[in-house]
This record gives sequence, structure tokens and C-alpha cells, in this order.
Amino acid sequence: MPEYRLTHAVTDLTGRELLAAGTRLTLPVMQRLAGEHNTAFPVCNLLNYYRVKADMLDFLRVPPYDVIFHGADRQQALFDIAGDVVMPEPVLMSLYHFRQLDFYTYRHMLLVFALSILIARELIDDRATLLQEVMAGPVHDIGKLCVPLSILTKKTALTPSEIVHLRHHALAGYVLLTHFFGEHEILAARVARDHHERKDGSGYPLGNPIDNLMIDIIMVSDIYDALISPRPYRPVSYDNRTALEEITCQAVTGSISKTVTRVLVSLNRRSKPHYSSCTLSRERRGLPPKDNVYGIKSSDSDDHS
Ligand SMILES: [Fe+2]
Ligand SMILES: [Fe+2]
Repeated sequence: MPEYRLTHAVTDLTGRELLAAGTRLTLPVMQRLAGEHNTAFPVCNLLNYYRVKADMLDFLRVPPYDVIFHGADRQQALFDIAGDVVMPEPVLMSLYHFRQLDFYTYRHMLLVFALSILIARELIDDRATLLQEVMAGPVHDIGKLCVPLSILTKKTALTPSEIVHLRHHALAGYVLLTHFFGEHEILAARVARDHHERKDGSGYPLGNPIDNLMIDIIMVSDIYDALISPRPYRPVSYDNRTALEEITCQAVTGSISKTVTRVLVSLNRRSKPHYSSCTLSRERRGLPPKDNVYGIKSSDSDDHS
């Protein structure tokens, strides 16, 4: 197992410390964390949890998601699949915590989840497999519970130590989901840990080259939503075309999946051509918004997604 070490403590919603800062996430530590509670947490349906379904419907009405989800069959497929997703109650309580305190992160988690389902159903034929895979998506950023709100909602670029604290959310999510699901190496926990890794090893927390379809899907959905959505620290978001060009460029250079990017491009077209007919090029016509602090390469550290 690679050497993962926590830069900060991991605490649950009640403030209870699960692991201290400096802890190495060795196999015995993670296994103990998974088996810590004798009785499993009760599970609840995600969409039926308070206003989750109504919120998701609201979010999907806003461009460009209105085009991406255009057509009754797409929304129906989304809710048909998402409707079967259940989560341990503390996971849903944590998700809802963001609805109250950091609405951007709440909206982002639900939109990444919705988009990941739409992409996954183009690439995974078997429904049971599809359902199992998409269960990993709704809470990829749950580790932000362990990042101060003052950092999450900061309106200016982060300092180096704040960046380290923000990046802590990947391993914090891995720890929290391992604990809540009571299962070591469950996909949801791996997605939380690895969604900022890249296929060419240029990401964090470890710089591990990732080769897993669901993590590829969340990676692309996460970057896309981060680019196009309003952020506390960015006065203007990317317009949709420039965001797609940015993502295409990353796919062509090998840091994210080309296939998943093709699906995203096809979903953005009203005609919804088959993704295999969408070609990827590095040609750029749009301009990133002035003063954006979404970093792609060395300044990736500035990305709050
Ligand atoms: Fe994210
Ligand atoms: Fe993240």
C-alpha cells in the first residue's frame, strides 16, 4: 500500500476525531477504521433525503446542464438509477451539512453525481454494475468536512498552508467513507481519495497514475463542474465552450480520460451523437475568464474543487 499520511486530523460531523494529524494510513489502520463500529449505520435513500431530489431538479434546469440532460429519457434514466442509491445515514447528514453551510459544495457534489451517472450509462451496459459504480459518486468531496469553512469560502487565492489544508479533503474523505461504510477499499472511499489524481501521475495526494473507469468519470465531471460553476473566489466562471476546450486539452495531453471526455462533449451537443464520433483537438477558440484562479498545471493547487 502506498504511503498516505494525514496532514491534518479527520473528524466526523460531531467533531469526534477519527484519526489524528500525522497518522499513516496503513492497512491495519484502515482495517481497524472499517471495523470500528459493531453495528452498521442505518442506510437511507439518497434522493428521498429531505430536499435532495428537488434540489437536483433545480440544479439541472440551469445551463449547460439543461442541454446535457435535455430529453425526458435522460432525466428519467438519471432518477431511475439515482433512485436506487442508498448511503449510510452519517454520509447523508454530512452531505446535508453542506447544504446549510457551503451551498456551493452541496450543489457541486450533486451535479457531479448526476453527470457521472449520465456518462457512466454510456460506458457501462450492465445495470447492476452501473448501479454499483455510481454509488461511489455522490460524496466525492465529503472530506471537505475537515477543511475550515473560512478556506472553502475564501474569496481570494489560497496561501500555501491553506492549499495543504484544502488538499487534505481527499484523504479525509477516504477515511470518513471507509469508516461510515464499514468497508475497507470500497469504491466510494477510493473515489474520494483519488479524484484529484491524474492518469499521467500529475495529481495529488500521491501522484499515482489512475486507471479506473469510475474514478475517470468523476475526475472529468469534477473538473467540468468546477470550471463552469460560480465559485466564491472567482468573479467569472468559464463559459461552456472554453471549459470543454480546457478539458479536451487535458484529455489530449493524457492527464484525464479521452473516452470520458468524448462522452462529455457528445452530451453537450443537442443532437447527442454517439461519443465515438466526437473528435478531440487542442484547438482553442474561447478565452479563460480574466483573473480566474482555476489552475490546471502547476497552479492546480488553486483549484478548490
Ligand atoms: Fe469536487
Ligand atoms: Fe475534490
